[in-house]
Amino acid sequence: MPVANLLRGKTAIITGGSTGIGRAIALEYLRQGCNVVINHLDLPRDKPHLDSLVAEADAIKSADSAAGAFDHVAGDVTNPATGEALVRHAVERFGRLDVCVSNAGICQFAEFLSLSADLFSRTVRTNLDGAFYVVQAAARQMALQQKPPGGSIIGVSSISALVGGGLQTHYTPTKAGVLSLMQSTAVALGKHGIRCNALLPGTIKTQLNEADLAEDEKRRYMEGRIPLGRTGVPHDLAGPAVFLACDELSGYVTGAQLLVDGGLFVNLQ
Ligand SMILES: NC(=O)c1ccc[n+]([C@@H]2O[C@H](COP(=O)([O-])OP(=O)(O)OC[C@H]3O[C@@H](n4cnc5c(N)ncnc54)[C@H](O)[C@@H]3O)[C@@H](O)[C@H]2O)c1
Repeated sequence: MPVANLLRGKTAIITGGSTGIGRAIALEYLRQGCNVVINHLDLPRDKPHLDSLVAEADAIKSADSAAGAFDHVAGDVTNPATGEALVRHAVERFGRLDVCVSNAGICQFAEFLSLSADLFSRTVRTNLDGAFYVVQAAARQMALQQKPPGGSIIGVSSISALVGGGLQTHYTPTKAGVLSLMQSTAVALGKHGIRCNALLPGTIKTQLNEADLAEDEKRRYMEGRIPLGRTGVPHDLAGPAVFLACDELSGYVTGAQLLVDGGLFVNLQ
């Protein structure tokens, strides 16, 4: 997407922002003039992703001084203090908070009959509790703000929120939960000028599903069901996430669900 400064002067936080969809959104927000603070896990395996993201963010800023500034804070979203620290860091560094993207998530396939209670509750804690903590912390900050008031909250749900998934009986309820959280917070927070919307990706090629997509037969099967004929890439979510963050483009959009799936959901009906 060309630099258009659609988010000039805004500040955004993004959970799970060092890889995949969160990373693609972070980079596009920077190009659009938005200051970005990402959250990431403090794990050795995350370090190379973070280092390359810092380098990409520097390159964007060097190429265009109107691009946003980048920062990052480590933390596990299952801890309520992580969302609060992320918001505090963004406000201390950039003075306010305009956009919150709750994106961190995990998804492992598992047979229902042998699904462990531990995997079920770990998935709920990460995908749903984690979303609640950061969304509430962000909303509390946004509700205090004036000039301009309000903000935009985006929950990364999934088209799995709308359909069953036999190997995802622990995952689909969390994504339906994120969608529902966005619908209910849209109602609760409208009076503060805070818009809340859900992004529902289809099959997007990231580390979450790279093992499955590496198998030719599985990939062909998945692609065969997608009307646009290809699986998505993380950048496919960047434009929709800019749209939902930008008041000029989506100022009257709240409580909405935006499917970004190449038409997969309507083909499953
Ligand atoms: N890839 C897809 O096909 C797809 C489809 C629908 C929805 N989604 C959703 O998109 C979001 C991003 O996933 P992705 O595909 O980019 O995969 P990803 O694995 O690249 O991104 C998930 C990020 O969340 C982080 N994370 C996981 N647990 C965390 C925790 N406890 N605290 C902080 N961060 C944590 C991971 O480190 C990672 O950076 C997820 O919520 C996922 O459910 C993905």
